[in-house]
Amino acid sequence: MLEIKNLHARIAEDEAEILRGIDLTVNPGEVHAVMGPNGSGKSTLSYILAGKEDYEITEGEILFNGENMLDMEPDERAAAGMFLAFQYPIEIPGVATMEFLKTALNAQRKARGEDPLSIPDFMKTVKAKAADLNISMDMLKRPLNVGFSGGEKKRSEILQMSLLEPKLCVLDETDSGLDIDALRIVSEGVNKLRSPERAMVVITHYQRLLDHIVPDVVHVLSRGKIVKTGDKALALELEKNGYADYVDAAA
Ligand SMILES: Nc1ncnc2c1ncn2[C@@H]1O[C@H](COP(=O)(O)OP(=O)(O)OP(=O)(O)O)[C@@H](O)[C@H]1O
Ligand SMILES: [Mg+2]
Repeated sequence: MLEIKNLHARIAEDEAEILRGIDLTVNPGEVHAVMGPNGSGKSTLSYILAGKEDYEITEGEILFNGENMLDMEPDERAAAGMFLAFQYPIEIPGVATMEFLKTALNAQRKARGEDPLSIPDFMKTVKAKAADLNISMDMLKRPLNVGFSGGEKKRSEILQMSLLEPKLCVLDETDSGLDIDALRIVSEGVNKLRSPERAMVVITHYQRLLDHIVPDVVHVLSRGKIVKTGDKALALELEKNGYADYVDAAA
């Protein structure tokens, strides 16, 4: 589903490469965790997948279902079924969360060749999914993410994801700032979306998220390269020993 081949990238006007040859293949049904020290390039990778403009790809390619993703605009990527939950979700003043969700969902349905949902059907769907994530209807009337607490922003991203039913979900530190109950709620939301057709890339610092969302594959990113790949046991080992054994490998 997602094939990243020898990806090198830097900030447009900067010489130094942030990503220095990433190879990553994610098949349908798989959940991959990406871990790694601060500044290793995890968020950069997610921004590049999202199509953020600030980066220059100096080498390599990204294929999404066999198509060259780097040629696709951000909205085309979304229409093709890719979803990103950012480490720092953006605030959109002036757009009620509910309105945003409806527009996003109907755009997605259109891209899939489906009719838009009627307002009552949309309300029913959103109510049920919001209740699962412990999100109040009052919160959905507020402008998107404006004044939401850290944990509320993360939950609203998972609500978006569960409505859109994307093919590929990339979650950047969805666990940061979540209280213990919210961590469980968000993880359940993510787990509900696991399916043989859908793939996920979960960026996280902590094993505790992976207790809830059990990954098939775990990667360690260090200085812009994947320096180690393993199964869920790798995350446990990192929790115990830290990154010391792997960071030198990327020098
Ligand atoms: N706009 C920018 N200008 C200059 N350097 C940048 C820019 N964006 C990212 N970098 C650098 O690229 C490196 C990778 O950053 P990135 O945010 O991808 O790290 P990360 O692995 O997500 O870290 P964290 O675990 O702290 O979230 C860092 O050294 C960062 O300072
Ligand atoms: Mg980051």
